[in-house]
Amino acid sequence: MRLWRCAVFVAALLPFLWWAGQVAMGQAGPEPGQYLLLNFGQCALILLLLTLSLTPLMKLTRWKGFALIRRQMGLWTFSYGVLHLTSYLLFILGLDFSALGEDLQRRPYIIVGFAALLMLLALAVTSNQYSMKRLGKRWKFLHRLVYIALILVLLHFFWVVRADMTQWSGYALAGIVLMLLRIPAISRALGRVRPRKGHAKVSASRV
Ligand code: HEM
Repeated sequence: MRLWRCAVFVAALLPFLWWAGQVAMGQAGPEPGQYLLLNFGQCALILLLLTLSLTPLMKLTRWKGFALIRRQMGLWTFSYGVLHLTSYLLFILGLDFSALGEDLQRRPYIIVGFAALLMLLALAVTSNQYSMKRLGKRWKFLHRLVYIALILVLLHFFWVVRADMTQWSGYALAGIVLMLLRIPAISRALGRVRPRKGHAKVSASRV
């Protein structure tokens, strides 16, 4: 399992290194700040969708490893969200916080992104065993916030790319499928797709 965790770590770190390298080598186009902002934002969204796909994948394949890398993937999602916010504050706002109010009026979708990031923060800080034990049943309830965060991120993204929704539609479709897979009846059916080894033997011996 340690190997899988290392692989996830390296795979999640690579995009950051690549984009930082492009900026350092002057190959990030005329607006490197914007380049980082957009790439970090897209990466956070992709990681969010990948994290949400791990539970259905575990049900389908019965490989428990998916559950073990879920927390790590969730933390990477949050980290890229923070990098996205940092790029905004540094490169777009130039750390001039007096301009923030005006920018929020001009681009209200930033408030929506901020709300999503706050939710991801709540999930990140309570993603440990200690919080799981302390919160008990409330933990599961709290972690359903991830779906609200996904809806907010999709709304945030939609607001930015309203003129051309081709790319957005792909992400939205993936999000809808992942949410449908959480409907109890569909989720149970998913678990039955691949019979347990024991059951397979019984049915095979009956034939
Ligand atoms: C405080 C939080 C956030 C701020 C201030 C923020 C800010 C921004 C800004 C200014 C843009 C538009 C850039 C432009 O076209 O000029 C943007 C786009 C985007 N943001 Fe955020 N955002 C936040 C949270 C998030 C989160 C949490 C996610 C994902 C998990 C996210 C994903 C995206 C995506 C996918 C885009 C579109 C990228 C593209 O057009 O290629 N944002 N964000």
